Amino acid sequence: MRTQVAIIGAGPAGLLLSHILHLNGIESVIVEKQSRSSIEEIIKAGVLEQGTVDLLNEIGAGSRMMSEGLRHEGIVLRYDGRDARIDLAALTGGKAVKIYAQHDVIKDLVKVRLETGGDIRFDAFDVSVHDIDSKAPKVRYRSADGSIHEIDCDFVAGCDGTQGISRPSIPKDTLNVYERLYPFGWFGILCEAPPSSDELIYSMSKRGFVLVSTRSPQVQRMYFQCSPTEKVDEWSDDRIWAEFRARLATRDGWEPKEGKIFSKAVIGMRSLVVEPMRHGRMFLAGDSAHVVPPTGAKGLNLAASDAQLLARGLVAHYKKRDDELLDRYSETALRRVWKATRFSWWMTSMMHTFPGSDAFQHRLQVAELDYVTSSQAASTALAENYVGLPLE
Ligand code: FAD
Ligand code: DHB
Repeated sequence: MRTQVAIIGAGPAGLLLSHILHLNGIESVIVEKQSRSSIEEIIKAGVLEQGTVDLLNEIGAGSRMMSEGLRHEGIVLRYDGRDARIDLAALTGGKAVKIYAQHDVIKDLVKVRLETGGDIRFDAFDVSVHDIDSKAPKVRYRSADGSIHEIDCDFVAGCDGTQGISRPSIPKDTLNVYERLYPFGWFGILCEAPPSSDELIYSMSKRGFVLVSTRSPQVQRMYFQCSPTEKVDEWSDDRIWAEFRARLATRDGWEPKEGKIFSKAVIGMRSLVVEPMRHGRMFLAGDSAHVVPPTGAKGLNLAASDAQLLARGLVAHYKKRDDELLDRYSETALRRVWKATRFSWWMTSMMHTFPGSDAFQHRLQVAELDYVTSSQAASTALAENYVGLPLE
């Protein structure tokens, strides 16, 4: 079969790209190695930048997000046993973020894509790309019944995340890889409890970082800094709550609202950027090209901005026969990617306790938080990065 753009991966990057292309009259086929129900269930990110919210609304996939998502106009930074609020809306001219789970974004995008005739090949195994250096690239895969399928296309979009095949299909000597591993991970839980706070709390303490987030009035999402090799089985609910209480303690006796924990998982943390985000007729978008540590919630939002930029380039190619935007895609996307990489690294460094960290280091982190929360210039810098920098 033939299509204009073959997209590998039905994550946020692939689904958004496919739907924006469709709205501009450009055909695509998505090949996804997992089933529909699997991708609609994986628990991942939860904070949507203003630009991602606007994009989902513009493309007709935002109605459930608008009714069920929670608009947050501020965040709390907790350190030294006290809270300081960053007023995102006041500092950014009214911008805010939306708390809405990534798997709900995926559900909404799959639904709208299928309702508008989208072609998503779920359970596509052994996906491979061919002839990306030529004008006639191909994507091959095996379906569940064992048959082999080949898709001829003009372009391939590698939207298959960190473990995908797109990035490894690019010759190593043409890619620059920049990577930083962090000596800790996040232990994430979901629990049945009312919200502990009206706004997200990013908390720094000597025992380590904690994030108090939410999903709904009934379900809460919380994380604590842990060893990257932490064993989930070694953490009973009681032990988890004791750790949260110890790390979140304030001078006025604040305590989180506890409840039944129904999901526990450890997430590794690293920064990774590969350059360029293109090889021949294959373009990388989202986690296939870059990974950020979750502090600052940029991963999903970067996938959305890449998809938007790549779609613009492809639309100009097909509608105006103009390749300038497509040729500049990697450079344009990387400028934004590096800014988000810097922000995520900075938030991570400021909020976490590094192994071997001493009292001097801790005092410096407290001083930095004091400065960030008391200086209008520094708070504004944090706020404008948090709600999302402009696309270009
Ligand atoms: P993905 O969402 O990874 O989608 C890639 C898709 O490609 C998947 O559906 C996958 O099945 C498919 N695929 C992979 N390989 C192949 C193949 N060979 N063939 C076909 N299809 C393939 N970010 C935050 O900002 N905050 C968070 O709290 C946060 N938590 C996270 C928790 C976890 C456990 C993980 C894994 C990530 C988390 N992230 C978080 C990161 C964020 O979710 C990602 O940045 C975002 O999902 C990137 O979207 P994407 O479309 O680029 O890739
Ligand atoms: C969530 C995740 C993040 O990485 C973050 O910075 C804020 C919230 C979340 O999953 O709710």
